[in-house]
Amino acid sequence: MANQNQPDWDSLAEKFDLWLPQIAPAGEALLAALSVNPGDKILDLASGTGEPALTLARRNPHAQVIGTDAAAGMVRAASNKLKTERLDNIEFTTMSAEQLDFEDASFDKVICRFGVMLFENPLQGLKEMHRVLRPGGQIALTVWSTAEGMTTMNWAYQAFKNRLNEEDLPALGKITSLGADGALESLLDQAGFTQYQIERKPFNYQFKSFEEYWDLVEASDIMKQQFDALPDNERNSVRDEVARFARDFQGENGLVIPHEFLVAFGTK
Ligand SMILES: C[S@@+](CC[C@H](N)C(=O)[O-])C[C@H]1O[C@@H](n2cnc3c(N)ncnc32)[C@H](O)[C@@H]1O
Repeated sequence: MANQNQPDWDSLAEKFDLWLPQIAPAGEALLAALSVNPGDKILDLASGTGEPALTLARRNPHAQVIGTDAAAGMVRAASNKLKTERLDNIEFTTMSAEQLDFEDASFDKVICRFGVMLFENPLQGLKEMHRVLRPGGQIALTVWSTAEGMTTMNWAYQAFKNRLNEEDLPALGKITSLGADGALESLLDQAGFTQYQIERKPFNYQFKSFEEYWDLVEASDIMKQQFDALPDNERNSVRDEVARFARDFQGENGLVIPHEFLVAFGTK
C-alpha cells in the first residue's frame, strides 16, 4: 500500500466534476468553519476544477478568491467555468502547493479540500499555507480518513490488488496517509500551526443503484490506469468483486456508502 500512484489529474480534469455532488459535504464542512469578511483575500489550494473556491466566491461577492492547482488541465477546467458564469472576484492559476508564488502573510484565509495528503510533500505544502496566511488568519482543510473510511477506494484496492503490480494499484496509502489519529496534527504542528481543531466527519456517497455507481467510476476515468493495466478478461471480475462489497450497503434508499473525512480548522 506504499505506492504514490495518483490519478493523472490533467487528463481527468474534464470528468472530475462528476464526483463533485458526492464530495459536496466536505466542502460545506470546510466553508462552515470559516467566517468570511468583506474584502477578505482567500486562497484555495489544489482547487481542482474550482471547488470549493467557486462556491465561496458566489456566497461572498465582496471577498477576493484565488484558486491554485499543480495540474494545468484542472486549472483550465476551473477557468472555463468563468466563461459561462460571470464572477469578478475569483481567478485560477497553475501553481504547486509546495512553492507558492505569494508574499508572506498575504491571505486572510487559506483553504484546501482533499489536496494536502496528495501533495508530493504535504509538510512543505502546510508550511507554505502557514507562510502566506496573515497572523490571525484562518485555515480550513479536509483530508480523507483511514482506508476504512475511504470505502470505495478501499473496495477498488482490494479488487485490484491480486491482479495488478504494486505500481499500478490505486494510491490508497497516499490518499489515506493523513487519516490516522495524530498524523495531520503532527504535520500541522511542524508547519507552525498552534491553534486548531480536527474533527472526524462521517458522510455517505449516495447512488440509486450499484449500476449508477459503477457508471460513474467508468465515466470519470478515476480508475483508468488500473483498467488499462488489466487483462481484458479480468475487467468484469473486478466489477463483480466490487459489486459484492457493495451488496451490504444496498437498501430501500439505493446504494448508500459510508465514508469519512477529517476537517481541520483554526487560526495562525
Ligand atoms: C481530489 S482533487 C481535489 C480538487 C478540489 N480541491 C476539490 O475538492 O474538488 C486533488 C487535486 O490536488 C491537486 N494536487 C495534487 N498535488 C498537488 C500539489 N503538489 N500542488 C498543487 N496541487 C496538487 C491535483 O492536481 C488535484 O486537482
